[in-house]
Amino acid sequence: KGEKGSSEDNGMQLAVRLMNEQLRTLQDNFNKFKKIFIFSIGKEVGRKIFVTNGLEYDYETASRMCSRAGGLVASPKNADENLALQEIVSKHDKRSFLGITDLHTEGTFKYSTGGTITYSNWHSNEPNNDKGNEDCVELNTDGKWNDTSCTNKKLLICEF
Ligand code: IPD
Ligand code: CA
Repeated sequence: KGEKGSSEDNGMQLAVRLMNEQLRTLQDNFNKFKKIFIFSIGKEVGRKIFVTNGLEYDYETASRMCSRAGGLVASPKNADENLALQEIVSKHDKRSFLGITDLHTEGTFKYSTGGTITYSNWHSNEPNNDKGNEDCVELNTDGKWNDTSCTNKKLLICEF
């Protein structure tokens, strides 16, 4: 029994070692892919990843595209996240939509997921609901927010 047991143990040890090697290769490849991805089209902040496809859409389309991809239109919840988005917007030199609107109740800005916003970075004198027609929010290249029409086309940035 001793002999048989030890050859089974050896087989098991070999299988575990091979699996560890494969896992390490997979992790290395994944980390490299992530670096390339973040370098080209995204930003990582904490556990969030912001990604753009570089194109501009109205808010409804932007919202649908992020949802279909399993994400949400980007919503900065703190200064670090706002800065990461500002960097994407500056790189593309195109303002983006945030996943924040007052479509439900005029003057009360909420996340697309429902709650009232807990962080904001409005430009001075904003939100002003210009012409009574500004229920969406754009992020400018200076990192400041402006309420704007949802039918304008802005850079798509989703968060995952
Ligand atoms: C407007 C101004 C205003 C802002 C509006 C914009 P426009 O641009 O920048 O300060 O609050 O959201 O639409 O219409 O004067 O080119
Ligand atoms: Ca405005």
